[in-house]
Amino acid sequence: MPSKQEIVVTAPMYPPTLAALDADFIAHRLWEAKDRTSFLAGLADRVTGIATMGETGADAALMDALPKVKIIASNSVGVDAIDLAAAKARGIGVSNTPGVLNECVADLGMALTLAISRRLVEADRYVRAGQWPKGAFAFGTKLGGKTMGIVGMGRIGQQVAQRAAAFGMTIVYHSRHKKPDIAYRYYDDLAAMAAASDFLLLILPGGAATKNLVDARILAALGKKGFLINIARGSVVDEAALVRALQDGVIAGAALDVFADEPRAPEALFAMDNVILQPHQASATHETRTAMGQLMIDNLKAHFAGKPLLTPVG
Ligand code: 8YV
Repeated sequence: MPSKQEIVVTAPMYPPTLAALDADFIAHRLWEAKDRTSFLAGLADRVTGIATMGETGADAALMDALPKVKIIASNSVGVDAIDLAAAKARGIGVSNTPGVLNECVADLGMALTLAISRRLVEADRYVRAGQWPKGAFAFGTKLGGKTMGIVGMGRIGQQVAQRAAAFGMTIVYHSRHKKPDIAYRYYDDLAAMAAASDFLLLILPGGAATKNLVDARILAALGKKGFLINIARGSVVDEAALVRALQDGVIAGAALDVFADEPRAPEALFAMDNVILQPHQASATHETRTAMGQLMIDNLKAHFAGKPLLTPVG
């Protein structure tokens, strides 16, 4: 029986996934280390792989602390927290988990669109606070006939579009390039699309290329009847500009599953009734996290068996 490969797991994962990692590998839990530097130094000559999460990724310092690592398997589709250039320079393969989470992420994007348009969370607070006997709750916004501008028309964006179209919405999109196989109207100018949209939904990759893509100018274009939904990464929105826009009524509201400094969210948003806050849970269902974890493990196993990665990055 070959000895088990030793890996470092950077952050807590879906418990069944951690159990599966323990079954197949010697899985060292970095987040439990009292002294990260000595913890890694003690593993440097044994650990050959890293299992990570979208939010925690892997930087060059971690790669240098574990010089025998030749695979970083991310339990996420987003890899913006992994220094891909550093991994490539060190001959480290990187894998992610595309495809298996598309439905759940798109479901949450549609759920947030419905929730913010019909003020569901606000209405729940209204009833729980005993306000209903004092008078009727306020009115919301109908989705049918409205325009959803989707920023990022990848596999998840296309699933969001299907859902929104089923609610009678007109779909338009902005991405780096017009997609020949996509029939929806394409805008190469994000501000122009924001101005034409009632709901601006973000589902594009994070990273340096998209940092603060949605800034005060884009929010002003979206306008006072517009809603922002972010299921991408906190980094794609200028968060200070968003807080100001919400405080000043520049936009009507926002539903956010991701933030610039997770697991913290801007406390200025906490008291706002026209904001929905979610703890980065778009893929957090039993079914999807099981599938993501299995795909991550299958990539690790393929690497250690000398086979091609199932879902390589880059
Ligand atoms: C998770 C995600 O929140 O897949 C991603 O990129 O953002 C989500 O699936 C998390 O990053 C899983 O590691």
